Amino acid sequence: MKIPALLVGLALSLGALTPATAAEPPIVIKFSHVVAADTPKGKAADFFAKRAAELTGDKVKVEVYHNSALYKDKEELEALQIGAVQMLAPSLAKFGPLGVKDFEAFDLPYIFGDYKALHTVTQGPIGAAILKKLEPKGIVGLAFWDNGFKSFSARFPIKAPADMKGKKFRIQSSKVLEEQMRALGALPQVMAFSEVYQALDTGVVDGTENPPSNMYTQKMYEVQSNMTMTQHGYLGYAVIANKKFWDGLPADVRGQLEQAMKDATELANRIAQEENDKGLAGIRDSGKTTVYVPTDEERLVFKKQLVPVHKTMESRVGKELIQSIYQATGFKPDSL
Ligand code: LMR
Repeated sequence: MKIPALLVGLALSLGALTPATAAEPPIVIKFSHVVAADTPKGKAADFFAKRAAELTGDKVKVEVYHNSALYKDKEELEALQIGAVQMLAPSLAKFGPLGVKDFEAFDLPYIFGDYKALHTVTQGPIGAAILKKLEPKGIVGLAFWDNGFKSFSARFPIKAPADMKGKKFRIQSSKVLEEQMRALGALPQVMAFSEVYQALDTGVVDGTENPPSNMYTQKMYEVQSNMTMTQHGYLGYAVIANKKFWDGLPADVRGQLEQAMKDATELANRIAQEENDKGLAGIRDSGKTTVYVPTDEERLVFKKQLVPVHKTMESRVGKELIQSIYQATGFKPDSL
């Protein structure tokens, strides 16, 4: 007789606890970004949401908004600062307008020969110091996520900078990218990512630059005819959060989210190359855009014209920062 009574008591006390626990609303994180779900960033954001739910036991619900569904480039940074969204992962080329110009070092043409060289910066002390600079803006920098190396595309073949002369090329909002296009004789046009397809289609711009994953998932290959694998610059992301929100999280939850971010970063950086290879294959298979691989001589012409941009932009990006990147990566601007 005693045992059932005990069980009843236990069941009652559990019953009393369960509804209260279940009714606890989750902490909602709105994570907005501008690319497709089927990209390195889109996949890493979804994975972060999954890991966050697992590791916090559903105390946190991350809502991922892909493809500029919530905000476009400039708006999303404003939304983060006022707390309308809690997390973003803008391209490193989009932090200049916030007043943190150091990020534009990542846009310097040819500064990173490959992912390995890049990671000496993004996964090391230089990267950590750059992220720290966001804090006075009310933003916390959580991680760097890779995409890949950009190539030029247009409605005409590009074999040399002369082919780009006087043509309008869409760029992200970076002064270094502006200077890069000018150094090639092209006319830079800053434009939100979500508007690029239409601008290419209607001829508002003549060409653009992006890694294959973005070119493919936005179907830009439909409105371009030629892509030249210049791979002249890097495009990647800083995952950021509203600092007040992040600091206000319960310490245990924040720790679990940091672990989820570590896992998502590992995934992003592991799949980036593969996703770009898939994108490039998709562009080739479309039959709509011809992909040209430049010869070593053709590459050198681009490189010689673009590396001097490092010097021109020294006063904006910071001489010391550029030198420290050269030191970390082994890049030698004078060896061309
Ligand atoms: C672009 O605007 O071209 C990219 O920054 C988009 C992105 O987030 O990859």
